[in-house]
Amino acid sequence: MGIPRRALAAAAAALLLLTSACSSADDDDGTVTSTVEVFTWWAEGGEKAGLDALIGRFGAACPGQSFENGVVAGGAGVTAKQVLATRLLQGDPPDTFQVHAGAELLDHIDSGQVADLSADFGTWGLRDALPAGLIETLTVNGRLWSVPAGVHRANVVWTNERVLADAGVRDAPHDVDEFLRDLDLLRRHGIEAPLALGRDWTQLMLLEAVLISELGADGFGGLFTGATRWDGEPVRRAIDDYARLLDFANTDRNSLDWPQAERLLVEGKAGYQLMGDWVAADLEAKGFTGYATFPFPGNGTAFQWLADSFALTSGAANPAGARCWLATVASVEGQREFNARKGSIPARTDTPTTGFTAYQTGAAEDWRSGVPVPSCAHGSACSQPWQNAANAAVAAFSTARDATALRDALAAAAKQFIRQQ
Ligand code: GAL
Repeated sequence: MGIPRRALAAAAAALLLLTSACSSADDDDGTVTSTVEVFTWWAEGGEKAGLDALIGRFGAACPGQSFENGVVAGGAGVTAKQVLATRLLQGDPPDTFQVHAGAELLDHIDSGQVADLSADFGTWGLRDALPAGLIETLTVNGRLWSVPAGVHRANVVWTNERVLADAGVRDAPHDVDEFLRDLDLLRRHGIEAPLALGRDWTQLMLLEAVLISELGADGFGGLFTGATRWDGEPVRRAIDDYARLLDFANTDRNSLDWPQAERLLVEGKAGYQLMGDWVAADLEAKGFTGYATFPFPGNGTAFQWLADSFALTSGAANPAGARCWLATVASVEGQREFNARKGSIPARTDTPTTGFTAYQTGAAEDWRSGVPVPSCAHGSACSQPWQNAANAAVAAFSTARDATALRDALAAAAKQFIRQQ
C-alpha cells in the first residue's frame, strides 16, 4: 500500500520548510553554508561601497555563512522601509535589517519584531566603545536593540565651486538671508534652479535645517519632546524662509532622489545642495572633486546626527549567522573599513581613522565638539509613522505651497505621535 499523497506532500513541505528555515546549502566541498539575508537601502555609489566593505569582512570573519543581499534601493530607505514593514507583517523577515538609531526603532520594539541584543553588546565590547549618549539613544525599556555602524551629519550644504566662482560668490553665507541673497545672485547669472532638491524626505531635511536656524539646537529638539510648539510664531517664520528657499529649487524635485539632485550639482546646473555627509563618499566614488561644504547657514555648531544601525529580527531564519553579521558590524575593523568607504564617523570611539578623508576627520572633530541635534527625516528624532506624516506634509507643500496647511499638518503629526521616547 502506498503512502497517501497528502501525507507525502505534507512531508515534502515540512522538509522544504526545514531547509529554507535554516537557509543552508551544501557547497561542492561538502561544507554546509547558511545564508544571512541582510536588508539595507545601500544600492549604489558610496553607500554600496560601504556595504561591500562589510560584506568582505563578514566573508572572512564568518566561515560557513554567506551573505544574501536584501537591498531595496531608494534614499533614506523610503521604499525599503515600506517593503520591510510588509515582510515583517507577513512573517517573512530578513535575518537582519538596517534601521536608524533612535525613535525609528520604537515601533519595531513595540511590535516584538526585533531581538534583544543587550547581552551581545557586552560580548562585542560595545558598552565601553560607544559614546554614552549613543548607548542612551539606543536603549529602550532598559535594553539594547540595534548595533550602530556609523554616524552621519545631516545639516551640510554641498557646493559646486565653479558655479559659485562664475557668479562671484566667494564666502559661505552666515544666515538664511545671506543664503537667499547668494541663490538670487546665482540665478541672475543664469543658474535657473541654484538649489538642487529632491523628493519629500530631502525637502524635510531642508525644512529641519531652517528650523534649527530659527529655533536653535534646544528649541529644535523640543519639537520632538513637546517642549517647543509647532503652532508658534518661530515655526511660522521658519516655514516662510523655507518657502523662499524652495523658490530657488528645481521644479522637478518631487520626482528626484538625492543622487539625481546631486547630479544637478555635479553638472553645474545648481550651485548648492543640502544633504547628509554620505555625499562626500558618493562624490568620491563618482570622481567629482570641485565641491566645498559648510554647515547650513545659521545652524552654528549644531551637529544634526543620525546613525545607521542593524537589528536582529526576532523571526530570523538564521540568528547565529545574523549575529555573526552584527559582530562584524560591531568590530573595530568592520567599523574602520565600513566608515572609510561610506564617509561616516565610526560609532566606536576606539576605531583607528587610517584611510579616512580630510572631510571625515573634520566631521569627527565636529561630532566631538558640536551640539548634537537629532533628525526626523533620518529617524533619530521621530518614530516611523511621525516621519511618514512629516514627509507627506512637505510633499504636499511642494506643490500646493499652503504654509498654514503645512504647519497644521506638522502640528497634528506631533500631537498624534509624540510620546515619551
Ligand atoms: C540615510 C542613511 C544613510 C544614507 C542616506 C541616503 O537615511 O542613514 O546611510 O544611506 O540615508 O540614502
